[in-house]
Amino acid sequence: MDVDGIVATMTPHERASLLAGASHWSTVAFPEHGLPAVEMSDGPHGLRHQTGAADHLGINASDPAVCYPTASALACSFDVELVEEVGRAIGEEARDQGVHVVLGPGVNMKRSPLCGRNFEYFSEDPLLAGELGAAMVRGIQGTGVAACVKHFAANNQEHARQVSNSVVDERALREVYLAPFEHIVRRSAPWSVMTAYNRLNGTYCSEHPWLLHDVLRGEWGFDGVCISDWGAVSDVTASVAAGLDLCMPGPRDDYAATLEEAVAEGRLPQESVDAAAMRVVRLAARVHDAASPANGRSSAAEQALPAVASGLELARRAAARSAVLLENDGTLPLAPSARIALIGEFAVEPRYQGAGSSKINPVALDNLYNELNDRGCAVSYARGYDRASGATSSELVREAVETAAASDVAVVVAGLPDCFESEGFDRKLMVMPRGMNELIERVAAAAPRCVVVLQGGAPMELPWRHRVDAILLAYLAGCRGGAALADLLLGAVSPSGKLAETWPARLEDTPLGAAFPDFDNEVRYRESVLSGYRFYDAAGVEPAYPFGHGLSYSSFAYGDAELVEADGAWQVVCRVRNTGDCPARDVVQLYVAAQDSPVYRERQRLASFASVELAAGEAATVRLPVEREALRVWDAGAGAWRVLAGRYELRVASSSRDVRACIRLDLVAGPSLAGDVVAPAELSAEMLAPVDDAYIHLRPGAFDDEAFASLPGLVLPPRRQVTPFTIDSTVADMNASPFGRLALRLIDRVMRKPMAEVEGQTREMISEIVADMPLRSLTSSGVSMRTVEGLVFMLNGCYLRGLRRIVAFWLKARRELAAQRFRS
Ligand code: BGC
Repeated sequence: MDVDGIVATMTPHERASLLAGASHWSTVAFPEHGLPAVEMSDGPHGLRHQTGAADHLGINASDPAVCYPTASALACSFDVELVEEVGRAIGEEARDQGVHVVLGPGVNMKRSPLCGRNFEYFSEDPLLAGELGAAMVRGIQGTGVAACVKHFAANNQEHARQVSNSVVDERALREVYLAPFEHIVRRSAPWSVMTAYNRLNGTYCSEHPWLLHDVLRGEWGFDGVCISDWGAVSDVTASVAAGLDLCMPGPRDDYAATLEEAVAEGRLPQESVDAAAMRVVRLAARVHDAASPANGRSSAAEQALPAVASGLELARRAAARSAVLLENDGTLPLAPSARIALIGEFAVEPRYQGAGSSKINPVALDNLYNELNDRGCAVSYARGYDRASGATSSELVREAVETAAASDVAVVVAGLPDCFESEGFDRKLMVMPRGMNELIERVAAAAPRCVVVLQGGAPMELPWRHRVDAILLAYLAGCRGGAALADLLLGAVSPSGKLAETWPARLEDTPLGAAFPDFDNEVRYRESVLSGYRFYDAAGVEPAYPFGHGLSYSSFAYGDAELVEADGAWQVVCRVRNTGDCPARDVVQLYVAAQDSPVYRERQRLASFASVELAAGEAATVRLPVEREALRVWDAGAGAWRVLAGRYELRVASSSRDVRACIRLDLVAGPSLAGDVVAPAELSAEMLAPVDDAYIHLRPGAFDDEAFASLPGLVLPPRRQVTPFTIDSTVADMNASPFGRLALRLIDRVMRKPMAEVEGQTREMISEIVADMPLRSLTSSGVSMRTVEGLVFMLNGCYLRGLRRIVAFWLKARRELAAQRFRS
């Protein structure tokens, strides 16, 4: 496709029209210029391709597809090749279904275990999320389908997600929240990035010139398309001026006219429109040229591949590789002859994916009960609790206890029900349902041995964890999770997953304590760079299970580590031996710990990881790169990365808390294999200025606004005012106006019946999303922006002016329609 030629033949109006979607999922086509439409679909752990009614919350049907483990599970594999393979399989399926852009991967950092959407994200560690995200992009794009890396940036809570303002200091932003995006853009050149709903330090991400133009394109060299999250655009002109290319969803009748007016009035350079149009055409060229049989990627033979069958096999392998053995006293693997009491409704109706825009209609779905029976195991089943709520009853407990007492081993499958976590709202507590906890305690007391299998997208408090014999964490394992769990429980596969996030013992131990989500719409990232294990390590808080933890049915011995130079870079090499009696895989981690840092920072940081698969008694050498990324800090005063001279420890580890070998690395100022090293005295004055003690002597929940304000370069914004109303006011804000309260009562009455027909957790998601929805989002449901503006006037008490605007628009629309009818 001739990109420049196509853009050159388009009129300015056509170029402006190209910048908003034609429908919920596609871009505008201009067949007369040889420009086809680009079709998009969620992502990220399978395809949600809607050919009927469309929505961005996973409510309407979608075509069947393979459902892979969600990102929080997949990340525990620490397996770059596997994630790339999953990406490739999703890309193949997309291509088969005529989809050109997969809306994923999601690489936002986990600030708190409570974020409702954590299941869709990889990790609390930027390097791990970056490596895995880059692998998924390579996989998807290797099939000629574009990946869309989301949600850019600092989109880490669901509450008020469309209007909240993430207030982040520059170091945390660079070192933690932008870092995975930077890694992915630099390493695997995604063809698109999705701009997040929220504001970042006061400006919406979709209209953030610094974020999109200076950093993403300028510094990192991104040459793809910036696509808005669905309904994220607030100020059309500001968005295009800042570097947003495509506003989704469409159609947006007002879009082109608004841009043309802004150009005519000199508020927007025509070049901004042209550049965005050129990037959208380039995306179309990339995906359509790649999909043509001529380039050899999509031959008839390849298209005939039994993609679904191989996808299901891959989903099973991925789920097995992602599960984490948290505890085991030798009860696992189960003996083939063991009489198993299988307890809990998740064993027959698993929790295997999350709710919201990522919800897949799986081509097939297995379960642990059938899989154990198919393998000839002696299984007796008790329901244990109600799947929807997690509640139990004395009758269900009695039945479970009797079943457990008559077995050799009880396997209780429990975790988080659907209603506990979802896109659109955050969890309030870190607990599992009380009924499930009670059931586990009672079964553990009655059974000769008790194993707990956990299903859920994020960490949970496990008050019974010292009273059971083994805990196997599946997370949300996708549609072949049942087969994978059976393989693991019976020892056909040894568990090798490692936690990609810390499992704190209690919510009170987390850096933010109960102060999450931030309900004020100002989301203050007070913990700065000290999130996840970086916080727990520095605060000396003992987690239930640390970052990187995961047991095996085998054991591994690590030899001495050595620092070597290879291909002009540093590498730590270490010999690892399988000292157990079964074949197994180990994930070896390398952490870098700066000693005596002149600036506040984490105690240690993941620098790289590698995995080895070893037969019993076998040994191999692992190689762990030490790159600049693992050593650098962001000097907010100088606006530059710095690697500081000083002493570092390189730790070869089996988890962040299980260090097996250490090497000292002394860096001196000057050139090094990790680039230039500077003396601490060369840091900017802002960096060297003292910070509040809260960042030196850490305690859970101790970061306050005063401490936060002491960070270099940070300006705390004033609190948000609800009135006067604007197009960015939320539906919930309408309660602050008499007219708004009346309108809400009417809407409530109209919606009562249809809402009653929606299932529980989807209802909660819709209610929360609607309450947090900015009024401008009504344009996504076909309401014109003029009508929204009229509504805003009325909320502000200007009833006549508001009404006039709505009526004038309505009359104009009618006139245009009549004229159109007359013409045709
Ligand atoms: C989500 C995105 C998703 C989009 C389209 C939004 O609500 O935040 O992740 O890709 O909808 O479904």
